[in-house]
Amino acid sequence: MSKILQFQLQHFRNIEQASLTFGEGLNLIVGDNAAGKTALIEAIWTLASGRSFRTAKPHQLIQQNQSELVLFGTLTEADRIHKIGLARTSDKVTLKIDGELAKTQADMSAKLPVQLLTPESHRLLEEGPKARRQFMDWGCFHHNADFIHLWRHYQRALKQRNHALKKRLPASQIQLWDAQLVDAAEKIDVIRADYITRLTPYLVEFCQALMPEITVSPECHYRPGWPKTAESYRQLLADNFAKDTLQGHTQYGSHRADIKFRFNGQEALMILSRGQQKLFVCALLLAQATLYQQHSQNPVIMLIDDLPAELDAKHRETLLKLLNLLDIQHILTSTAQDLIPVLEPEKAKIWRIQHGELIEQQ
Ligand SMILES: Nc1ncnc2c1ncn2[C@@H]1O[C@H](COP(=O)(O)OP(=O)(O)O)[C@@H](O)[C@H]1O
Ligand SMILES: [Mg+2]
Repeated sequence: MSKILQFQLQHFRNIEQASLTFGEGLNLIVGDNAAGKTALIEAIWTLASGRSFRTAKPHQLIQQNQSELVLFGTLTEADRIHKIGLARTSDKVTLKIDGELAKTQADMSAKLPVQLLTPESHRLLEEGPKARRQFMDWGCFHHNADFIHLWRHYQRALKQRNHALKKRLPASQIQLWDAQLVDAAEKIDVIRADYITRLTPYLVEFCQALMPEITVSPECHYRPGWPKTAESYRQLLADNFAKDTLQGHTQYGSHRADIKFRFNGQEALMILSRGQQKLFVCALLLAQATLYQQHSQNPVIMLIDDLPAELDAKHRETLLKLLNLLDIQHILTSTAQDLIPVLEPEKAKIWRIQHGELIEQQ
């Protein structure tokens, strides 16, 4: 079981200090606007991923007039307990796992597999491919131990190649990077394609559960980041060399991958209402959570910020039932307690948050 038992935070946004002992099912945080609900969700997400979903400027996370924020989690994984911690000053991050300095954020993320649903999550469908790549790569990272290394190799080769293109270095110095780029891209491609193939049946299942009114099944079309008509990525790089030189960057590759979601051949965004788009994103996360659970025997932890803004009453109940059924620990926020159906009161834990102060309800 991977669950978060305890979470402590210090000097994170408007939260001076808090310590929460979570339950294994529903954990509900209730508070008015600006109380610090999103800050709490953001803090857990930051411990798990090293970054915020609200800002690219991490110093904003440190409480005003303080110099350091500290996050600390006690987790269960199978029958083991792990303690992970993150401390951040304006110019330094320190990560620890079980008392030892951790080298990379990826080591932390592997210990704390969290998923996030916020009122902005429907952007996954609306916006450019970056969010869809992040979604897909979350799955690839947690499913395949090689993925992170391949991705780092790819990024390094791409950066060097682009640098050489921009500096207009001789062709031989640019093409020096092609072999590494191609090797990593082809392996990344296999992992991503395989992941999307495995994910699709679960997506179909959860779309049916959340949107029974839609009788056709969703399709996921994975795009590797280069045209399917190309003979190979290697050949495409060679064919596009003059164009890449002109533009000063590498046009095609794994950094351009995407997933297209379709119903009956039509783009999901065209078919689904705004409400259904939100349900579709829920279905994607549940599919991902279920596949992860099947693969690792560990459930994910689901963070849901402002659930009532996300789903109507009927769908809130359906989602909570599914989370219970799947035995997924969930940490949710809401402006009012009565907007959240508490299906198993004996297992639920509820806090009120006011001006960054958390008080557990009995
Ligand atoms: N670095 C910071 N230091 C102190 N307060 C902050 C910081 N960043 C944000 N805040 C404040 O924290 C409060 C909590 O905001 P938020 O988490 O969005 O609340 P909610 O989600 O409950 O509406 C806001 O009043 C915001 O101005
Ligand atoms: Mg909020």
